Amino acid sequence: MSVKAIQVNNTSIHVDLLGSGPSLMLVHGFPLDRTMWADVTNVLAQSFQLVIPDLPGFGASPLPPWPLTPANYAQTLALLLTELKITSPIAICGLSMGGYIALEFWHQHPQRLNALILTNTKASADSPDARDNREQAAQKVLANGTTDLARSMPEKLLSEKSLAQSPELKVRISEMIEHQSPESIAAASRGMAQRHDFTDRLDNISIPTLVIAGEDDKLIPLDESKRMDHMIPNASMKLISAAGHLSPLEQPTVFTQTVSQFLSSHA
Ligand code: MLT
Repeated sequence: MSVKAIQVNNTSIHVDLLGSGPSLMLVHGFPLDRTMWADVTNVLAQSFQLVIPDLPGFGASPLPPWPLTPANYAQTLALLLTELKITSPIAICGLSMGGYIALEFWHQHPQRLNALILTNTKASADSPDARDNREQAAQKVLANGTTDLARSMPEKLLSEKSLAQSPELKVRISEMIEHQSPESIAAASRGMAQRHDFTDRLDNISIPTLVIAGEDDKLIPLDESKRMDHMIPNASMKLISAAGHLSPLEQPTVFTQTVSQFLSSHA
């Protein structure tokens, strides 16, 4: 594995590169970092060249001097690929906030993608109430730090089955959240509130698309996943049993099989 810190867009991005084959970029969710992909990378790296960034502000990538909107993240990831000399089309897989970023990436650079994997995510924007909640969450984490969030969020992210059967996973997620910077969490929360609504543009997505949903995802209504599957012309959907919002961590074997089959059938 090669680990790099790449300078782009007035910031530094920590990125893991491993495996060989067609390129696949994995974009983590909120408020997590690249280590959330650890359980799926070894298998996927047998068939793909994986590009796994810590989004600016998270993990080992410092907070950049720009708003952490999905649009800014997508623009920065495109610059990252250019810097890495990956110029032919790639597949992108984004989980939740990573999915908002993947949709933005498609919107900004459709010619740079050959496949889209939208996992535990949605195309719609926040309602006014959801935006207010984001602002309150931002103020809370700035005032109190990450401890409360680290304690409360795993219950929402994980399925009831994972919570009952994988206490170590709950601890791992909790620690991942606790180690993020409050400023970055607040900035990404505010950034997600400003994201675009892609619902009306889904029918313009012409590349093969896989929608992955967790049967027990408490944050993404199943109807949102089904709507993406119905509206994107070349889409298929996989509903993963006994998974909540973090399907690559909760059901890594099913996740890697689903992603590998999808990408190899569209190679
Ligand atoms: C995520 O997992 O990235 C978040 O749940 C996304 C969100 O808060 O909308």
